[in-house]
Amino acid sequence: MAKGTVHADETSVLPRFLDLEYPSVERGEGVWLFTADGRQILDACSGGAMVANLGYGVPEIVAAAERQAERISYFYNHHFTNEPQERLADRLLEVVAPEMARVRFVSGGSEANETALQLARLYHVERGQTERWRVISQAQAYHGATMGTLALTGRRTLREPFTPYLAEHLHLPPSTDRFDPTGEAALAELDRLIELSGPDTIAAFFCEPIGAAALPAHRAPDRFWQGLDERRRAHGFLVCFDEVVTGIGRVGTWLAADQLPIRPDIVAVGKGLGAGYAPLGAVLCTQEIYDAVDRGSREFDLGHTWDGAPLSCAVGLAVLERLVALDLVRRVHDLGPRLLENLRTSLQHFDVVGEVRGRGFLLGVELVDPRDGRSFLPVDLDVASWVDDIALEHGLLVTSTHSQADGYAGDQTLLAPAFTSGEDELGQIVERFAATIADVERRVKNSLTTRSGRGQE
Ligand SMILES: Cc1ncc(COP(=O)(O)O)c(C=O)c1O
Repeated sequence: MAKGTVHADETSVLPRFLDLEYPSVERGEGVWLFTADGRQILDACSGGAMVANLGYGVPEIVAAAERQAERISYFYNHHFTNEPQERLADRLLEVVAPEMARVRFVSGGSEANETALQLARLYHVERGQTERWRVISQAQAYHGATMGTLALTGRRTLREPFTPYLAEHLHLPPSTDRFDPTGEAALAELDRLIELSGPDTIAAFFCEPIGAAALPAHRAPDRFWQGLDERRRAHGFLVCFDEVVTGIGRVGTWLAADQLPIRPDIVAVGKGLGAGYAPLGAVLCTQEIYDAVDRGSREFDLGHTWDGAPLSCAVGLAVLERLVALDLVRRVHDLGPRLLENLRTSLQHFDVVGEVRGRGFLLGVELVDPRDGRSFLPVDLDVASWVDDIALEHGLLVTSTHSQADGYAGDQTLLAPAFTSGEDELGQIVERFAATIADVERRVKNSLTTRSGRGQE
């Protein structure tokens, strides 16, 4: 570790990518990361995973965690409850989702979605509709790394090699401008899938209301959501929103659902709820879902060891109170459009940039083939990973996905700065990202020229 970076050959950790050299992060301050090899990196992605929404080293959150840990940090919630859990549930319902009725705490996004899925199934079983199990979801999505949640995405490159373990759910192509600008094609496909499976077998429609990693800041048109609502009423399935990224203010409203003409039955949140100070997620459901359990078996016993633990809930409470006290969701709402405009302006001259999208502090940049400004880039170039590497050379942390192999989206870069980022820091993010794309574009054009010289398109 002396040189400050770690390779798979020299660590006891099983790393994600065995060919990468991993810099070790020593500390964070505000929106800046400091690595053991002496670098200072501007974090445009809230800890790389849209989590650290308040930035690093917030003394009030650290103090709240310390106070709770001194009192009691952990207790299993099977036979007991605790004050932080009770208060956080109350505050979530008051502040974030007044139309929801109950909250179940978990430790992260995958657990939240897995729990949402189980709750949706339980709702139908409690009402005697035991044949309802199947889920229809958007193909271009990410819902987590457990076998239950992995089955919800249609992204082939994520599902392999685990398909033998994955339930056979059904997937809709995304309603992007490229494939389905009005949302009507997705509705027609939804009708076909409902018919194919049988309307009485559908338990839920599960989706990211505004896309995150898989299709950053993409939102299907209103017509799609209205049509989904009509079909929910006609066929009796539930609508579950994965707001693990978008929830708790990321898109400039407490929930992305607040920007859509449809209300979900179940919502999962995660990431920004603990804001990187504790592992925390939550599932919120309507009174109708709760009533089904109340009048039925009266138990939803499945859970995880850390569900509702006092330490993580005390952190969640401190995070929520800070968001409220500093009016940070409004800040994201007000500054988001300007950030998007600045990013669009600084990227408008690049042939490799196809689309720049944004909702609050969730922004997405789609890269395209500069030869026609529309096609996806060749899969084997893996330009997404160039973006992340070159951004780091410019002292900037962004997150990109190499998703075009699935056929629905090109290489995508996601920017998700902390809500507390200063205006100067937001300006620097835009500048450093434009410098990154200038380098990426040069490299892409060189590679494509070399290829066509070799006759391999
Ligand atoms: C939209 C969405 N849902 C769920 C998850 C899974 O959350 P976690 O990694 O906390 O389990 C993620 C993680 O990136 C996500 O982006």
